[in-house]
Amino acid sequence: MAWGENRWTIPVSPEAVAAARQGRWEIYLTPTRPVPEAWFPALPGCNVLCLASGGGQQGPILAAAGANVTVFDNSPKQLAQDRMVAERESLDIVTVEGDMRDLSEFPGESFDLIVHPVSNLFVPDVRPVWAESFRVLRPGGALLAGYNNPARYLFDWELYEQGILEVKHALPYSDAARLSEEEKRRYLEGGEFLEFSHTLEDQIGDQIEAGFLLAGLYEDYDREDDNDALSKYMPVYVVTRAVKL
Ligand SMILES: C[S@@+](CC[C@H](N)C(=O)[O-])C[C@H]1O[C@@H](n2cnc3c(N)ncnc32)[C@H](O)[C@@H]1O
Repeated sequence: MAWGENRWTIPVSPEAVAAARQGRWEIYLTPTRPVPEAWFPALPGCNVLCLASGGGQQGPILAAAGANVTVFDNSPKQLAQDRMVAERESLDIVTVEGDMRDLSEFPGESFDLIVHPVSNLFVPDVRPVWAESFRVLRPGGALLAGYNNPARYLFDWELYEQGILEVKHALPYSDAARLSEEEKRRYLEGGEFLEFSHTLEDQIGDQIEAGFLLAGLYEDYDREDDNDALSKYMPVYVVTRAVKL
């Protein structure tokens, strides 16, 4: 499935960083609704892991607001964007390349907060992401995670892009299962990612299974100018706040 033209790779502006330094900031884990302010601990001195969050967006804002930020992503290009903003704005940001399912780079209980924008559609199994997040968080820490509503994956993708909703796929959906080896090769060579839908039980139930307590939830839509076919009818993203007691 195509990731589309990529706003997730556009770094934040100097103005947004300057405002964050003055205490005026917000971050997004989905396209249109900022994460509620009440979901954050006091940021000065807070150790934050921006998980699968490269691209120069959440990390620089949180660092400018006073947090000690580590941005973790499997894309060297996305991490380079965070380093570019860090250098441009004289911010301290640690960047680490790796897979979101394996945080063995970090000792247990090393972060107070994890922010995880919509990205687990790129891994076939989300359970290791929740288990690893739980391990690296300190007691009292929280995981703020965005993900797709799985209903998105029901439809014929080519028609979807023309605004037509025609049910085609049983859920859970997997590009790996749907595409031929040749198609997969072309996808990956073309810089596209394989996508996987996850059930709400995978997304929410498995966070609870990993040990978290669910403490907040909201939904979001794609931006109007994205003309997302399903967003005209229902929210297509879910964001949760899960806490480690
Ligand atoms: C939609 S972007 C989200 C990042 C962006 N900063 C934002 O504003 O939401 C998804 C990110 O997940 C990263 N990613 C994809 N698969 C990954 C994996 N297996 N492990 C770690 N990061 C991954 C991509 O490189 C990309 O930076």
